[in-house]
Amino acid sequence: MNAAREARTAGRTWFGADWNPEQWDREVWRTDVELMVAAGVNLATVGVFSWSSLEPRPGKYTLDWLVEVLDLLAEHGIDADLATPTASPPPWLGVRWPETRTVTETGVRLSHGSRNHFCPSSPVYRERCRAVVAELVRRCAGHPAVALWHVGNEYGQVCFCDLCAEAFRRWLQRRHGDLDTLNRAWGTAVWSQGYAAWEEVLPPRAAPYVVNPAQRLDFRRWTSDALLELYLEQKELIRAADPTTPITTNAMGFFAGVDYRRWTPHLDVVSDDSYPDPADPASVVGSAMTADLMRGLADGRPWMLMEQAWSTVSWREHNVAKSPARMRREAFQALARGADGLCWFQWRQAADGPERFHSALLPTAGPDTRQHRAVRALGAEVAALGRLPGAVPAEVAVLFDWPSWWAHSEAGLPSARLRPLEQLRRWYEVCWRQGTTVDLRGGGDDLAGYRALLAPTAFLLDAATRERLTAAVEGGAHLVLGPFSGVVDEHTRLWQEPVPAGLAGPLGARVEEHLPLPDDAAVELHPEPGTELPAGRALLWAEWLRAEQAEVWLRFAGGPADGGPAVVSRGWGRGRVTYLGCVPDDALLAAVLTRCLGLAGAATDPGHPDGVEVVRRGGDLLLLNHADGPRRYRLAEPMTDRLTGARHAGSIELEPDAVRVLTKEDL
Ligand code: GAL
Repeated sequence: MNAAREARTAGRTWFGADWNPEQWDREVWRTDVELMVAAGVNLATVGVFSWSSLEPRPGKYTLDWLVEVLDLLAEHGIDADLATPTASPPPWLGVRWPETRTVTETGVRLSHGSRNHFCPSSPVYRERCRAVVAELVRRCAGHPAVALWHVGNEYGQVCFCDLCAEAFRRWLQRRHGDLDTLNRAWGTAVWSQGYAAWEEVLPPRAAPYVVNPAQRLDFRRWTSDALLELYLEQKELIRAADPTTPITTNAMGFFAGVDYRRWTPHLDVVSDDSYPDPADPASVVGSAMTADLMRGLADGRPWMLMEQAWSTVSWREHNVAKSPARMRREAFQALARGADGLCWFQWRQAADGPERFHSALLPTAGPDTRQHRAVRALGAEVAALGRLPGAVPAEVAVLFDWPSWWAHSEAGLPSARLRPLEQLRRWYEVCWRQGTTVDLRGGGDDLAGYRALLAPTAFLLDAATRERLTAAVEGGAHLVLGPFSGVVDEHTRLWQEPVPAGLAGPLGARVEEHLPLPDDAAVELHPEPGTELPAGRALLWAEWLRAEQAEVWLRFAGGPADGGPAVVSRGWGRGRVTYLGCVPDDALLAAVLTRCLGLAGAATDPGHPDGVEVVRRGGDLLLLNHADGPRRYRLAEPMTDRLTGARHAGSIELEPDAVRVLTKEDL
């Protein structure tokens, strides 16, 4: 990295926004950067959607304005996150080469006039991307402002065109080898789908009835890999000219379009776009979970919020405004959970286009506004704090994998109401409410060292993951599996062995039937003596479980599995496996998981004040009060607030919206 820039940026938390100078006259640019400095902005993302301003006609490049923008940023000590413009091709591309435009499932070729209308398999699109990126790199690599490269934007296009069909087939040939293997993996004997030639294999286009789930699953995998190839192609061009500046592309949290676990090893900084809905008071739980996902994906590398909204967005039907205090809480939540950067979409509120009512750091009403004053206050606070040192320690991992999510979202399951993300979120919330920090991990990650592994939704369990989980249990972890787990293999074929597949042996119990419940079912769950669990209710789902060697913790009272085991558990190796063959109500779920964490020796805090988020980062303790009323938190030792310098001992009073960054040091 450029030494001067390194000296400038070391220890900084990035604080900034997307900036679109191409939408404004030059006079505005200087005002903008001056206001940025006053607001503590030290990173501006430029160029994301500027292809038609950089190459107005094929091969005619006009990058002088962009270099001018970078000069201006450098002059003001602001880093640039320089984006490649390839997320939104200019009209000339799609008009001259219609095959560069996306085709939907039903065969409609999409038009320009919006953004993201490209086909990932089009050789012309890819060639023009390489050309414009090569020019960008030629002009801008090594520029003192460029501190981060941002490839494309929110990759997630899905295209069903003939070029994609060809690319999909090539990918399938690599994955399955020959057609017989593909036919077996996809179970094409069902409904006369057997393929006699590769040319017959297509993307899962619109068909009269439910499409083959294995075909759809592979198409999702291919889409993710195809988009990753686009990213890597550009990354290579940048790397050839600039060996050190970090490269990223922005993720979208729990986004189904791509499997970020396959992407993030190729990102130097993991960056995420997060837009929690202010109308939903519980969205702070979702944003915490997303932050933990990003930290897990980063796996020790830095991660940052690339985009969030100061208040309203332009794509919700009804925008409940976000208060500045809530915005501040959300910002500190990301820092608490390991982020090293806080950026927003966008710096200056747009005057034109579909996003002109999207909030921005600098509203149309100008800098002398309540809103912009709050931006400045937060900027000053973040600058004074500097980069928070240290990692976020977690003894518990919550497991989440895209292929399982995908397979579990297909049609044709016993119930569409057992929604994987909803269940994930309920389990996560139990940990969040008691201040147990978790890492969101994949089954293929290194799981060593976690005391407990919570797998709320592991419908698809491939052979390798089953083995890794069994090994983790043997090594001492407590694995807790949610209902409908270990049911299908990597091709979404039902495992032809006791379920949860691969883990039924260690568990000493197996599932015989999945039994979704009527909406109004009053099925009770009764604890077995000695478990110290309360009674509760099963919602939505029951299973017929046969416990052979497992202990029974809870039994169904009523419903289709009346009297049968609902939650079972067994010690195995140095660890334990627990299985929930039901969806317990919130209170009972919390009790079951707390018991599991307790048995695993993971720290829990049942006396935790409701609505207070507690996270440790390095030696610091961050407290955020999301509740409507004041709360008290008991400190184990005296601590100093880095934000105010106040010393606290005993218990600390937290007003609504309170943010405390506490350290043991005497400041
Ligand atoms: C993101 C996108 C930004 C902006 C933002 C609005 O999806 O990356 O460019 O459109 O949403 O919320």
